[in-house]
Amino acid sequence: MKPRPIIFDTDPGIDDATAITIAVRNPNLDVRLLSTVGANVEVEKTTLNALKLTEFLGVEIPVAKGCGEPLMRKLRPCPEIHGITGMDGYDFPPVKRKPLEKHAVEAMRNMIMESEEKITLVVIGTHTNIAILFKMYPEVKERIEEIVTMGGGLAGGNTNSSAEFNIYNDPHAAAIVFNSGVPVTMLGLNVTNEARLYRDDAEAIDASGRVGHMIYSLLNHYRDAFMDGGLRIHDSVAVAYLLRPDMFKTQMLPVEIATEGPAAGTTVCDFRAMQRGEKEANIKVVTEIDSAAYVQWIIEEFRRED
Ligand code: RIB
Ligand code: CA
Repeated sequence: MKPRPIIFDTDPGIDDATAITIAVRNPNLDVRLLSTVGANVEVEKTTLNALKLTEFLGVEIPVAKGCGEPLMRKLRPCPEIHGITGMDGYDFPPVKRKPLEKHAVEAMRNMIMESEEKITLVVIGTHTNIAILFKMYPEVKERIEEIVTMGGGLAGGNTNSSAEFNIYNDPHAAAIVFNSGVPVTMLGLNVTNEARLYRDDAEAIDASGRVGHMIYSLLNHYRDAFMDGGLRIHDSVAVAYLLRPDMFKTQMLPVEIATEGPAAGTTVCDFRAMQRGEKEANIKVVTEIDSAAYVQWIIEEFRRED
């Protein structure tokens, strides 16, 4: 079976790095482009991190620098989670590679329109680049297979009690993407908080080889929970869904994005209105994950031969 063509829109970010590393090394995915956005840390750093990662992995995947600020709000990075560089914990050699000259939005448009097959967008940062892509080049929409996004949730946030980080940082962009008419599959905190890696799992990754050791070194500096309490490697769950949909359950649900007020950035799912036929289900929401299968899956992914 031909590998599935994907583009990552990403803010590496230690969990982004884990997701990208797995995807790049799996023969069932064809990573065509890494487009970066400012979110976990500033876009200059997320772009450098994407270059560091692809150089370390020995792959020539193009990296294109995207938007540094959300559409309307001020960016609130979180170096306290990923470190000041955005990928603290591993001493990568100096980077030789350069990003594309083109802005990420232009690079995505060209990649999508020139591809024979439809492309899946894997959005694991804010949705700023994607919203601008759709506004500037709406013709790309019919060339996109699906948007698989880590963001939002069905019960509470991680940035405040209500909103998840990726949506919180650019709710206006997320609203444009969720209402774009392009099929969106949402992996929110309701599942990514259930996919936890513990110390012995992380040590199994460390023992798997050079690449696993690099990821383990990053995870030792990742502050979204701790190894003994269970690491939440949110973005890796989006790749798990692409490669092993059997580990998940989904449901079409009506999801709206709150864009103003104290709850801005909340993904609001109006179950009752759907039951009454008052709202259309517009988003495929991932509702369940087989957490034990996920842990086994991620360890096996790092045991792949280089
Ligand atoms: O809420 C988790 C998400 O926000 C992940 O994508 C993480 O990398 C941060 O971007
Ligand atoms: Ca991310």
